[in-house]
Amino acid sequence: MTAQEIRKKYLKYFEAKGHKVIPRANLVPNNDPTTLFTGSGMQPLIPYLLGEEHPDGDKLVNSQTCLRAQDIDEVGDNRHTTFFEMLGNWSLGDYFKEEQIPNFFNFLTKEIGLDPNRIFVSCFSGDPENNIPKDDESAKVWKDIFDELNLSSNSKDLVTEENGAKLGGEDIRISFYKDKNWWCRAGNISNMPEGEPGGPDSEVFYLFPSIQHDPKYGEKCHVNCDCGRYIELGNSVFMQYLKTKDGFKHLPKQNVDYGGGLERMTAASIDSPDVYKGSLLWPIVQELEKVSGKSYELETNNMRIIADHLRAAVFLCIDGINPSNKEQGYVMRRLIRKSLRVMLELGLEEQILESLTKIILDMFKDDFHEIEVKYDDIVQVLIKEERVFRQTLKKGIKEFNKILGAVTGEDLFKLYDTYGFPVELSLEEVNLQGLKLEDNWKTNFDHQMSEQRRRSQTATKGVFKGGLGGQTEQHKKYHTATHLMYQALREVLGDHVIQHGSNITEERLRFDFSHPSKMTDEDIKKVEDIVNREIAKDLKISFAEYPTEKATNELHALGAFGDRYGDIVKVYTMKADNEEKPFSFEICGGPHVNHSLELYEDGKKFKIVKEESSSAGIRRVKAQLV
Ligand code: ALA
Repeated sequence: MTAQEIRKKYLKYFEAKGHKVIPRANLVPNNDPTTLFTGSGMQPLIPYLLGEEHPDGDKLVNSQTCLRAQDIDEVGDNRHTTFFEMLGNWSLGDYFKEEQIPNFFNFLTKEIGLDPNRIFVSCFSGDPENNIPKDDESAKVWKDIFDELNLSSNSKDLVTEENGAKLGGEDIRISFYKDKNWWCRAGNISNMPEGEPGGPDSEVFYLFPSIQHDPKYGEKCHVNCDCGRYIELGNSVFMQYLKTKDGFKHLPKQNVDYGGGLERMTAASIDSPDVYKGSLLWPIVQELEKVSGKSYELETNNMRIIADHLRAAVFLCIDGINPSNKEQGYVMRRLIRKSLRVMLELGLEEQILESLTKIILDMFKDDFHEIEVKYDDIVQVLIKEERVFRQTLKKGIKEFNKILGAVTGEDLFKLYDTYGFPVELSLEEVNLQGLKLEDNWKTNFDHQMSEQRRRSQTATKGVFKGGLGGQTEQHKKYHTATHLMYQALREVLGDHVIQHGSNITEERLRFDFSHPSKMTDEDIKKVEDIVNREIAKDLKISFAEYPTEKATNELHALGAFGDRYGDIVKVYTMKADNEEKPFSFEICGGPHVNHSLELYEDGKKFKIVKEESSSAGIRRVKAQLV
């Protein structure tokens, strides 16, 4: 089956079970300071998992485009990609384990035809320290399923990964682990920040008998072994806990948060352990084979990196990102540059991103209608980045030729870091030109690399700081202030001001919007005054739900650029009791404070603390309550 078919089948399957299909969120999360990218389907649904009502009801389904930049170094194996689609279904306090587990199992076996005998599962082993019981309930549901099919249903406690390799889990149908079977955005149960929801989960793996266990990954194989013999297809998280300063509390509702990789399910459906053979990656590989005259079999690793990285970069472009040296734009640039560098290994020295970009866009355009209007612009962005970087690469080679004396680790690092010149290529060049390497070049090079890694990890991973803030009072205050400022900006600068991004932490709000020039001091002052004037009126904050069509076209509720809405939206109103019209009227999931005067607690006032350019035509302001 193609991925396109599986995506459609999945949405239909859950729609028939009473789920509402909701649109995907942008790859760049709105109002979520914790991460640069949408990395799972549940991320845009956090407020609802925490207890807010979702306008589309309590059973939802979609396919969420995700990007996990932290997986960049894993790309090259048979199953990891930075960009992927996560099929997701959610129960917000509706059904639980007894329905979720058989539904997913039946989808895999009956709808896409996987062999039930190759399906293996894992459940949560329990955490006595935190008073969280072993998930015997899920295991029981699984056991009944396997027993009914007359398949073995042996179970075993493994608890940690290391144990797994020691004890071995081959032929164990139901395995119990601790950390591996707890899901929250922070990773595992012991490092959850306060305010973060999470819960035990049950993962489903598919066995590929054609892959032999590789002892390099541990003595014995088990479902969580990294050798690639078992591939995880999906994960049902039973999201029912909230981490608080006093330990774990129950969330108001027992939720299901299911997510599974579309590319992996596609690969399983064609009985291939290689996700690149699926219909959303293979056309890119085929084009690489065609233009390079080399085969995927011999150039597997290189072609996988190029296919993955370009697809991710193109999707970032679809979602409004441009290559730059900051944040999401920097990740996009890194992805493109790395793939161009790897292309040299395939002998691809001329510009070819035009055809590759078009191939990627064509794979998605029938199902992602937002592509149509941007199609040509996206191709241009990629072509331009390629042109600039190919010149840089050439310069790198020239730079190489200037090195006098022995080539040092620092030279190699500079060539790599500044000119994107791969160290392997540098070493070949050294040989070719009969140059010398300094003795400890490797130590020096590795030192520079680990320093750089530390710096870039601070840039990507460090964004996930403790104290998610997603639901704290401070976060709500800044969220409310953001609405007021958005409206004030439009009053001062004009209606061309459209939100292009928002990010809120405990300390400040940050807001990106379209405006062609720097704001003057006078404009900034005017915006501050308006926001403070409105806060002082003690606006009442409430919301109502409307059909999207009515909210946008009839009532002219404000929204953000690039946001996709379902059929029904929640609109927040901020209005003074004695005024007829609300000051702010904006589509938003919440939450907010109830009265604007809450923002003034402790005598604080609203102040814009920074105004700068974010990218071409987009300004960025940061503001605080001080
Ligand atoms: N949120 C869960 C995951 O990403 C389903 O694995």
